[in-house]
Amino acid sequence: MTATLKDSYGRAIRDLRVSLTDRCNFRCFYCLPHGEPPIAPKEEMLSYEEIEYVSEIFVSLGIQKIRLTGGEPMMRRDIETIIEKLARLKSKGLHDLALTTNGYFLPDRAQGLKDAGLNRITISVDSLKRDTFKQMTGVDVLDRVLAGIAAAKEAGLDPIKINAVIVRDHNEAEVTDFAAFAREHDVKMRFIEFMPLDSGHDWSRDDVVSGREIRERIDARFPLIPLDVARGSETSSRYRFADGAPGEIGIIASVTEPFCGACSRIRLTADGQIRTCLFSTVEHSLRDVIRTGATRSEVVEFIEGVVMKKEPRHYINDPQFVAPSRSMSFIGG
Ligand code: GTP
Ligand code: 5AD
Ligand code: SF4
Repeated sequence: MTATLKDSYGRAIRDLRVSLTDRCNFRCFYCLPHGEPPIAPKEEMLSYEEIEYVSEIFVSLGIQKIRLTGGEPMMRRDIETIIEKLARLKSKGLHDLALTTNGYFLPDRAQGLKDAGLNRITISVDSLKRDTFKQMTGVDVLDRVLAGIAAAKEAGLDPIKINAVIVRDHNEAEVTDFAAFAREHDVKMRFIEFMPLDSGHDWSRDDVVSGREIRERIDARFPLIPLDVARGSETSSRYRFADGAPGEIGIIASVTEPFCGACSRIRLTADGQIRTCLFSTVEHSLRDVIRTGATRSEVVEFIEGVVMKKEPRHYINDPQFVAPSRSMSFIGG
């Protein structure tokens, strides 16, 4: 029988997102426009052995999906090593091992990730135009990222999802071009509403392009049909093309159509803090617990207690909302 971690609202927690580093080689303006704050000393970061140890415990408690994130997770040395270690948990109840990356390192390394045991990959691409890509990410590397997508495909990582954060006056006119890209390359294209998780704290509601507007823009050019699948705890509402073309559209409307009620996610930061929500204002140091000689059952008890504190929802739409002090690059998307 599968174990189940439950929070105080009865939600089953099945999805662990592990940030491997808060460093990043991009400067996306909606995340990390001015670079990282001083990097945590190495000894404060969880080692691969520690990540493996706690992940095994999480899986024994009912976690079925692990997603590696960052910062840019491929900035951490030998990421293949931790993928190999975590892939072994598939014999113990892990169903899915995925990675979210900016794609920069994929041209040379996609095959290695697949060989290490990664199942699938999500690559961020905010524009298909060189100038807009550079303006949004701070780096002039669109071609390299597109080569990374091709390499991931070639390596057999499947499905490939592409994430684009849509921001007013930057890339909203490109949503139909992205849909055309999904059709041509048979990928799952996901459009993300801009959330107040930027390190510059420049987010404004006026910058948010709603999921509804995105859907209507695409539907006018390529009619869409909602997928006939239960959404469960997924972040996106999903659509296929009415004309039967390959590819898929996903809309992640975190701000205008929150999906917190079915959330199954918790997060582990690179320095070993459990965050029970993207928008948590408190963190719980699993690192301190494992480094002070806790027994396995004490670690289990700690995790179960923290999960019970998971927030019911985010408060972006409440007047008294306060953005978390750490940016997405730290929290891990
Ligand atoms: P799948 O495992 O393929 O379903 O991917 P995912 O959507 O869980 O992961 P991904 O890293 O691609 O996340 C996409 C975007 O969804 C993130 O950039 C966030 O904008 C948003 N997102 C992910 N998790 C949460 C969450 O718990 N709450 C909210 N509000 N948004 C989230
Ligand atoms: N709002 C929405 N999505 C964001 N991401 C980073 N910052 C934000 C934000 N402020 C997304 C990235 C990437 C994922 C890890 O998080 O585009 O796809
Ligand atoms: Fe780096 Fe990802 Fe943040 Fe962009 S969104 S700065 S690629 S961590």
